[in-house]
Amino acid sequence: MRIEIAADATTLAKRAASAICDVARAGAHPSIGLPTGDTPISTYEEIARRVEAGGCDLSRVTAWAVDEFAGVPRGTPGTNDAFFLRHLAFPLGALHLPDAGAANAARDIAAFASRLRDAGGIDLCVLGIGTNGHIAFNEPGSAADSPARVVDLATESRNAHAAAFGSLDAVPTRGMTLGVADILASRAILVLASGAAKADIVRRAIEEPPSAAVPASWLQRHAGVTWLLDAAAASRLRAR
Ligand code: GLP
Repeated sequence: MRIEIAADATTLAKRAASAICDVARAGAHPSIGLPTGDTPISTYEEIARRVEAGGCDLSRVTAWAVDEFAGVPRGTPGTNDAFFLRHLAFPLGALHLPDAGAANAARDIAAFASRLRDAGGIDLCVLGIGTNGHIAFNEPGSAADSPARVVDLATESRNAHAAAFGSLDAVPTRGMTLGVADILASRAILVLASGAAKADIVRRAIEEPPSAAVPASWLQRHAGVTWLLDAAAASRLRAR
């Protein structure tokens, strides 16, 4: 595992944008996994600036959302669908998302993961980390071999999305997520974390033995993981 520490969130966004633009340049059919959340927004803004300036081109990239809410119509404010519509302000080859409004969410997310595998998997899976250690919507309790599936969302995760949905009651109780197994099948993984609120969970994910209590700790089992942290998120790591 590589750990890169950026001085601040702006530098983190620039480095993350560079990593994504590099993958977009490589190979015949580049594919990336993309997260939602507050952390990647400045990275997506930086990519948009580079695309505008001609320094990055994602028009050949196939992007796969790593998760989505379940049980609300597609495009409902607060869904990942709505998030990407707003924040991916540059041309992309394709963006695939599970369907938040699917009548049968279990079938939809299984089909989504199967389409992803058939398309050749993910070159670079970009992830955030929840304060409870989740990656995508793999909440605490998720095993290393967990498949793509429907999950009950942790209260902590629902709270984090209350503002986007308008109220806590409006946040769906279930989500659809690529499993830890799907994420670990990616050829490379880039985890973004910024801010002091992430410092303790980042330390646990990186320094404690891998366990389902902190799903992000399963990333220790992948040789191609880079943790890209700002100084605050890295502040509890032991000196290296
Ligand atoms: C959300 C998403 C994750 C994201 C995480 C961290 O609930 N499902 O994919 O990585 O929480 O979000 P933030 O960057 O806002 O802390």
